[in-house]
Amino acid sequence: MSERIGRRELIGAAGIAAVAGAVGGHAAAQGAAQGAEAAGPKRKIVGICCSPRKGKTTAAALALCLHAAKEQVPGIETELIELADLSIPAQLAAGQPLRAGETDDFPALAATLAGPEVVGIIVGSPVYFSNMSALCKAFLDRCIAFRKAGFQLRNKVAGALAVGSARNGGQELTVRSIQTCLMCQDMVVVGDGKPSAKIGATLWNQDDSIAADEFGSDMARSLGRRVAEVAALIG
Ligand SMILES: Cc1cc2nc3c(=O)[nH]c(=O)nc-3n(C[C@H](O)[C@H](O)[C@H](O)COP(=O)(O)O)c2cc1C
Repeated sequence: MSERIGRRELIGAAGIAAVAGAVGGHAAAQGAAQGAEAAGPKRKIVGICCSPRKGKTTAAALALCLHAAKEQVPGIETELIELADLSIPAQLAAGQPLRAGETDDFPALAATLAGPEVVGIIVGSPVYFSNMSALCKAFLDRCIAFRKAGFQLRNKVAGALAVGSARNGGQELTVRSIQTCLMCQDMVVVGDGKPSAKIGATLWNQDDSIAADEFGSDMARSLGRRVAEVAALIG
């Protein structure tokens, strides 16, 4: 069977009802009844780039991911959101006010992410001292709003990737830290799937590029496919 799985094949696969039931899926069962991909609801996977440097290596890794997600599930939409463009004050997570002149772009971002069409979110961070960037942590801290609003990210699929300038610069720790935060949202956290089937995608920035890192790039693609595959299973 092809690695590239369409929604109809997924719905037809043995065990889909169990998967849908286990995660409270609804559209998978509906889709089985309708039996038509085009009749399904709009579905989107969003990549969140947590580098303060717009369009650099983390964004490039997420672009690989999202491209592979689109190939995996025909008809699924993707969007890359760069936090470098946004103001996400972290102190609001703890109920502290904006500083003078400070603005907050999180509510608009939150409205996008909480939307029912968003079935998967892939968070990508540069490795900063063996962990996620401050921008990434600010975003994940602000995601407390989703919990308070009744776990609005519940059962959306989550993936994580990290890019560092050393081969073993803390990418795995960074991915794990991100995943830990996403689990607090009751999201369905997945790894990068087979053939590697590790915790997520870990990439090596060499000369401000991930082009030479074939292994890491393959992991990024695999992560995108896995998030899309599981999102399609859930509905
Ligand atoms: C403050 C700071 C700390 C960093 N710490 C690490 C580190 O611990 N390990 C590592 O591999 N790279 C580290 N780097 C390098 C970045 O992770 C790397 O350049 C990454 O590709 C940047 O992502 P971007 O191109 O999307 O901005 C650090 C960079 C900065 C600015």
